Amino acid sequence: MNPEGKNILITGAARRIGLFIAETLHRQGAKITIHCNSSRSEADRIAEKYGWQVIQADFSRPEELEKFNHIVCDVLINCASIFRPVSSLAVESEESIREHFEVNFFSPLRLIKKVIAANPAGGVIINFLDQEIFLPCPAGGAYSLSKRALAGATLELARENAPAWRTCAIAPGPVLPPPHLPDSKMEKVLRRVPTGRKIGLDEIAGTVLYIMNTPSLNGAIITLDGGEHLYPVGM
Ligand SMILES: NC(=O)c1ccc[n+]([C@@H]2O[C@H](COP(=O)([O-])OP(=O)(O)OC[C@H]3O[C@@H](n4cnc5c(N)ncnc54)[C@H](OP(=O)(O)O)[C@@H]3O)[C@@H](O)[C@H]2O)c1
Repeated sequence: MNPEGKNILITGAARRIGLFIAETLHRQGAKITIHCNSSRSEADRIAEKYGWQVIQADFSRPEELEKFNHIVCDVLINCASIFRPVSSLAVESEESIREHFEVNFFSPLRLIKKVIAANPAGGVIINFLDQEIFLPCPAGGAYSLSKRALAGATLELARENAPAWRTCAIAPGPVLPPPHLPDSKMEKVLRRVPTGRKIGLDEIAGTVLYIMNTPSLNGAIITLDGGEHLYPVGM
């Protein structure tokens, strides 16, 4: 699918990875709608610059998903996510586990259902996961669990909704440090990445385009992590 003229909704795209993808697809002629939560002023500024639409919604509040009831798009990219590190799943509060599942699993799933129902002509769904889904990662807590649930949904949806809709996912390794941490924190993480380097934003955007442009890709989870998923955490 060529992005030119396509309606593309990207969640969590006022900043960071989502924004980079939105700008890349914009340059290729796509009509972009970005979703944001707390970054409304950044989203409005960018949207004004490029002529994009903005939808603001807090995914921890299911009723806010109603703001997407009338959205019609050809491509949905589920990028929005929360990640709160914990020492172990055993100590993570039920409230935190529920919030991670609302934002990282239920909201993307609700959005997918809405966009599929609104556009029977079909399109492409791309879910952002994490290489952590491949090995037990207790310190990933509910974040890892919720991404694993979304990985499972990706496979199920790919089977159920083809040929009209293809559903794929990208499972990145380290691209950017969490917003509250400095770049230097990436050094420790990079020690367990066999290629020894961060994943480039251009590689992420290139993989989005690859999925869009490859009609036989459906139910594919593309690991983009320099091989990090091959090593148990702590090694
Ligand atoms: N960064 C990495 O190195 C890395 C590694 C592996 C996987 N990933 C995955 O790749 C994707 C993009 O990564 P990222 O680092 O760009 O993500 P991020 O900055 O952690 O989060 C993206 C956006 O999610 C939105 N969000 C957070 N809580 C929300 C809520 N309650 N309701 C609605 N939106 C909410 C935020 O929007 P506002 O700013 O508007 O509040 C935020 O800008 C994520 O799915 C992440 O799990 C990233």
